[in-house]
Amino acid sequence: MAGLVVENVAKRFYRPEDRTLALKDYVLQLGRRPRRESWVLRDVSFEVRPGEMVGIVGSNGSGKSTLLKVVAGILGPTRGRVKADGRMVALLELGAGFHPEYTGKENVFLNAGLLGMSRRRVQGLYADIVAFAGLADYMSMPVKHYSSGMFMRLAFAVAVHVDPDILVLDEVLSVGDAGFQTKCFERIRQIKHAKKAILLVSHDLGAVQELCDRVVWLDQGVVRESGPAHDVVPSYAVSSLGAEGRTTEKQAVEGRRYGTFEIEVSKVELLDGKGEEVDALWAGQDAILRVRYQVHERVEAPIFGIIMHTDEETPQLTYDTNTMWRGIDTGVLEPGYDVEVEYRFRCTLPAGRHYVTVAAAHTNAREFYDWIDRGITFEVRRDRTWKGTANVGCEIRVDTAVAMRGDRRVEVGGV
Ligand SMILES: Nc1ncnc2c1ncn2[C@@H]1O[C@H](COP(=O)(O)OP(=O)(O)OP(=O)(O)O)[C@@H](O)[C@H]1O
Ligand SMILES: [Mg+2]
Repeated sequence: MAGLVVENVAKRFYRPEDRTLALKDYVLQLGRRPRRESWVLRDVSFEVRPGEMVGIVGSNGSGKSTLLKVVAGILGPTRGRVKADGRMVALLELGAGFHPEYTGKENVFLNAGLLGMSRRRVQGLYADIVAFAGLADYMSMPVKHYSSGMFMRLAFAVAVHVDPDILVLDEVLSVGDAGFQTKCFERIRQIKHAKKAILLVSHDLGAVQELCDRVVWLDQGVVRESGPAHDVVPSYAVSSLGAEGRTTEKQAVEGRRYGTFEIEVSKVELLDGKGEEVDALWAGQDAILRVRYQVHERVEAPIFGIIMHTDEETPQLTYDTNTMWRGIDTGVLEPGYDVEVEYRFRCTLPAGRHYVTVAAAHTNAREFYDWIDRGITFEVRRDRTWKGTANVGCEIRVDTAVAMRGDRRVEVGGV
C-alpha cells in the first residue's frame, strides 16, 4: 500500500494587477483586466507512507495550505499529480463541511456522511464522538454559537472516528486548549500506529519535531529541505529567526548552534550521582546534566530544555523534556545573572554513544535564545550483569524452600 504520493506538483494562481490602468492598456488587452501569474507551488514531491507522519513547515504564504488543498483534491494541480491510496480525511479550514444553522448532533451526521459513513455506522459511533469532543452539553446547540475551539473539537472528533487511511491536518490543533491538544496528540499517535498516513501543517515546531518522522520545508512554494524532523526543524528555525534579522549564528565545535542570545549557554557538564564530572555513564547509574547560562538581556519566563539522541547515522530521540512541560516557572531573569539548570536522572539509556541538545527558548516556545545541537556527547556502558537496551534496575528475589518453611529467600539487590 502506497499511502500518499505527491509528484512534481505545481500550482499557478492569477492575481489581478495592482496598478490602475491607462485606457490604452484596456484597449490593448481587449477589455480584460490584466492578470499577473504567480506560481505558489513549484515541483513539490514527497510521500507519506502508511504508519508515517510527515510535517510541512514554512513561513506565512509559503504555500502550505495551498499544497494541502491540492492533496485533498479541493484544488487541482496545474502540473504534477497526487496519488492517494485509501480514504482521505482532510481537516483544512475550521468549519468546512459544517452547517452553521444545524446543531452539533445534526452536523456530526452530516459531516460523517460527507466523509462516506453510513447513518447506521455514525449512530454506533455517535456516543464516542461526543465523548471525545467533550461537548455532551452542546450537541443540541447550532454550531454557529460554538467557539472556534469547540468547533475544532467536534470536527477533529468526527475526522478521527471515521477511520481514515490518510489524515490531513492544517494547523487545526492550535485552536484547542492544552488538555484537548494532549488528547489529539495521543489520538494522532494511535492513528499512526494503526499504519495510517498523516500529513500535518503546523507552526508549532515543538509539536512537529515531536510527532513527525519526516518534515518538508516549503519556501516560496519550493521544497527547500526535506528529511528527518530533527534535521529539518532546526534548519527552518534558524532561517525563520534570521528572516527577522535577529539571529547571529554562532558556530560551535560540538554542533550547529543558533539563537538570538539574550541568554547564552556558557557551560554543559555531565556529572555522576556524586557530582564528579564524567564523560561516560554506566547504564542504571544516577547522573546529573548541568547547564549553565549567562543572561545578557532581561527575559521573562524562559524555557530551559534538553533533548537526548543516540549518536548514530540515524539518531533516535531517546528523551526530551523542558521546564514548560514540567510546569516550572523560571521567573524573570535580569542581565548579569548566571543561571544553572540541573537535570537529575537515572541513566536508563541504551548502551552506546549519545548526545544532548541543550536550549533556552522564549516563553512562546517558538524562538530560541540559544540552541546547541550537540551540547555534550557521552558514552553509556553496560556491565555484565544484564543485557538489552534499557537497564530497568531489576531486583531479583529467589525463594528456595517454600515447601519446607515457606519463607527462605535469597535477595539480590538492584544496581
Ligand atoms: N485562490 C488564490 N488565488 C490567488 N492567490 C492565492 C490563492 N490562494 C492562495 N494564494 C496565494 O498563495 C500563497 C500561499 O498561500 P497559502 O495559504 O498556501 O500559504 P500558507 O503557507 O498556508 O501560509 P500560512 O502560514 O499563513 O497559513 C499566498 O501568497 C497567497 O496569497
Ligand atoms: Mg495556511
